[in-house]
Amino acid sequence: MRRVWYGEHGGPEVLQVEEVDVPSPGPGEVLLEVDAVGVTLPGLFHLRDLELPQRPGGELAGRVVAVGDGVEGFAVGQRVAGLTMSGAMADYAVAPAALLDVVPEDVPPVIAMALLRSGQVALAALELARLQPGDSVLVTAAAGGVGHLAVQLAKSLGAGRVVGTVSDASKAEFVRRQGADEVVLSNEARWPVEVDVVVEGVGGVVLERALQCVKPFGRLITLSAAPGRLASHDLLTGLRTVTGLSMGQVARNRPDLIGTWRRQLWTLLATGQVRPAIAAELSLEEAAKAYQLLADRANQGKVTLVP
Ligand SMILES: NC(=O)c1ccc[n+]([C@@H]2O[C@H](COP(=O)([O-])OP(=O)(O)OC[C@H]3O[C@@H](n4cnc5c(N)ncnc54)[C@H](OP(=O)(O)O)[C@@H]3O)[C@@H](O)[C@H]2O)c1
Repeated sequence: MRRVWYGEHGGPEVLQVEEVDVPSPGPGEVLLEVDAVGVTLPGLFHLRDLELPQRPGGELAGRVVAVGDGVEGFAVGQRVAGLTMSGAMADYAVAPAALLDVVPEDVPPVIAMALLRSGQVALAALELARLQPGDSVLVTAAAGGVGHLAVQLAKSLGAGRVVGTVSDASKAEFVRRQGADEVVLSNEARWPVEVDVVVEGVGGVVLERALQCVKPFGRLITLSAAPGRLASHDLLTGLRTVTGLSMGQVARNRPDLIGTWRRQLWTLLATGQVRPAIAAELSLEEAAKAYQLLADRANQGKVTLVP
């Protein structure tokens, strides 16, 4: 089978495809024939800093071909989606059963994969930021994989005005189509926006600018591990609350929430209240091209590989 890997640091050009044996599922694991894999911004940054060699790919959808000892609730032939630790950019991949969910028969793999990862991050952010009906919301990087779904979900959950930021005006129309009432260019020094809730997925100067947009008693939730300065003075005088989201920590501390959010997402999809937009569906051999789309900040929606 084919699998994407890299053995040196650099840009997307370091990605290669190798031929390897199909892996076997260990206890608690499921072997999938992979139909869709997500390409993410952290994955792009990891090309430069993770220890080598690496086999990228965490978000996936596919069909079960074998189950390991002790696995319950999954059977050969079932369509599933969810997460694995690495190595999902491949014809076959092994994933912990605990991180997978069964996909309804009428949901395409790319949609299931994007919904259960990017959609879940977006929903978790809005829930943990305690979005209330009528609240105004600002979403940064609103054309991104997580961002466009945060815009859609904010509206579905009853938000009032929703504003999205983008780095380039060419993405504004796409963000409006996701339901945003307004779009702001993130490279402007001050954004003319005041909202109850901010979903921030970029860090750095974008985090600083976004914090200035939070109304008194409003909440900002950060999703990005990128460094960013939060001045206590801005929290104090602005009566602002800042929190963060790590899906890994949610899974460790409140695994029940993951199940709740998954069920909510399937219902929102079935009722047309959320619909992941797929920016590109590329082959394993085009992994470098897929990451280049992210590096060029050219994606509108979720970038995917379809083996
Ligand atoms: N906390 C968690 O558990 C968790 C889980 C998954 C994802 N995340 C986070 O969610 C965020 C979005 O991830 P994603 O995979 O959805 O991203 P994505 O689809 O790749 O989109 C990310 C967006 O970020 C913007 N961006 C800002 N700085 C950039 C840079 N230096 N290079 C390229 N793009 C840049 C771009 O929009 P503009 O050009 O319009 O700014 C781009 O569209 C990331 O910060 C990621 O770490 C967090």
